[in-house]
Amino acid sequence: ADEPYDVVVIGGGPGGYVAAIKAAQLGLRTACVEKRGSLGGTCLNVGCIPSKAMLNNSHLYHQAQHDFKKRGIEVGEVSLNLPTMLAAKDSSVTGLTKGVEFLFKQNGVTYVKGTASFASPTEISVTLNEDNSKTTLTTKNTIIATGSEVTPFPGGAVPDIDEKVIISSTGALSLEKVPEKMVVIGGGVIGLELGSVWSRLGAEVTVVEFLGGIGGAGIDEEVAKNFQKLLQKQGLKFKLNTKVVGGERVQGANGDAVAVKVEAAKGGKEEEINADVVLVAIGRRPYTQGLNLEAIGVEVDNKGRIVIDDQFNTSVKGIKCIGDVTFGPMLAHKAEEEGIAAVEYIKSGHGHVNYAAIPSVVYTHPEVAWVGKTEQDLKKEGVKYNVGKFNFTANSRAKTNVDTEGFVKILAEKETDRILGVHIIGPNAGEMIAEGVLAMEYGASSEDVARTTHAHPTLSEAFKEACMAASSKPIHS
Ligand code: FAD
Ligand code: NAI
Repeated sequence: ADEPYDVVVIGGGPGGYVAAIKAAQLGLRTACVEKRGSLGGTCLNVGCIPSKAMLNNSHLYHQAQHDFKKRGIEVGEVSLNLPTMLAAKDSSVTGLTKGVEFLFKQNGVTYVKGTASFASPTEISVTLNEDNSKTTLTTKNTIIATGSEVTPFPGGAVPDIDEKVIISSTGALSLEKVPEKMVVIGGGVIGLELGSVWSRLGAEVTVVEFLGGIGGAGIDEEVAKNFQKLLQKQGLKFKLNTKVVGGERVQGANGDAVAVKVEAAKGGKEEEINADVVLVAIGRRPYTQGLNLEAIGVEVDNKGRIVIDDQFNTSVKGIKCIGDVTFGPMLAHKAEEEGIAAVEYIKSGHGHVNYAAIPSVVYTHPEVAWVGKTEQDLKKEGVKYNVGKFNFTANSRAKTNVDTEGFVKILAEKETDRILGVHIIGPNAGEMIAEGVLAMEYGASSEDVARTTHAHPTLSEAFKEACMAASSKPIHS
């Protein structure tokens, strides 16, 4: 029989593929099993990457329509070629997924195209995509990185997702035409990003959110309120504190449609909203189907998450788990960090992920990004803090670009001035947050950043001035 692998990784998403490459780089004999037919998981195939392609290009389209003229750029009539826009997205996806395959070859990772299932804690049975035949991989260590899937609307009150009329994020990345009316169930990250895409392309978008604010878990309330105002200005409609109680397929003016029934979250009068397309974006859930976890005794909690300790060990020796399928935020970069740390634990017994400094970014325009504690967290924990805020209207580069919406907000501990949280809404917030993450990793005070030279004229000066505001006074406001 073949030598056992040192590591078999199940799932080729950002968690799994990064773990596999790192393991091979550390000299471990490594295989990665992926059933999708391409590497990169949810993120590269139907998540981060295609959504950002659509966000970028729909933003350019929207700008060409509504903003170019003011800037002295006359382009005549602007029109949308949706098939070309979708093809551009697909080509970004293919380029990147093939790129990961190349990295596997370069680093000597064995890529097994098929569906994995545990035959025992050290034997993984794989049904190969190619011909449905079975093969068994024996291994010393396994890393489960099977990710997550969309949570369907509970209780069958809304008809099942068909990816045409009732869609998940996956369908929302490939609609063949721009719907006239779209209802988004859930005002979290997916609802806002993909709602923005179709709104910019011409749909009338209504977001129905159960809670009193948008943006999902972890967003600072002040940011969330500003964010909602800006999106409303762009044409998105919001129904907050409202729950969807049902939906019915009907024939609309443009063919198949849905009558969505909503009512106040606390209960009340039912109201109907008609939509050509309904996007269900109420969260994602861990995916463990077919792994045969029960048979080998891997513990799963009541939310379907694989239970791990602080070294990524499951309840079965030799089996670790990372990414969306276990605890923590469902983010690609979180899965990647865990992938590296899990492999380092296997190799040397030491690894590290700083969960206090994992950034979140919403890639709308303006972007929203944050890291660390929110004001509401600090109040709840009774921590005394200073707020340093700087508006982009007072930043020279934002003014020059005529893109001045938003602010940088720094939360620093009152006694020590240590930065505890950074919240940005504004142009390029997603890039700028890296400075906040780095500052927090190094335990910086707001004064440390305030005394660091930032190039002029850049948006990053708003970050510096927010730090000046937290520790002394900014110059430009
Ligand atoms: P996944 O990426 O889900 O990968 C798991 C892989 O395992 C899949 O490819 C699956 O086919 C495979 N698999 C499952 N079971 C088996 C089996 N038994 N055998 C073989 N293979 C198996 N995150 C960000 O950080 N930034 C973003 O901008 C962002 N945008 C997103 C946009 C959308 C629309 C969505 C849906 C998600 C987005 N995310 C984003 C979240 C991000 O995609 C996930 O956090 C990330 O993909 C999780 O990585 P993972 O490796 O844990 O799992
Ligand atoms: P989410 O958890 O961000 O938001 C879901 C929203 O739906 C919440 O605000 C919730 O209150 C609301 N909701 C739940 N049930 C509802 C109901 N019955 N009626 C009305 N509202 C309801 O989940 P989302 O947006 O589906 O995204 C899934 C995951 O994908 C997120 O956890 C996120 O981490 C990841 N993602 C990350 C992105 C990024 O980093 N830019 C982009 C897209 C997704």
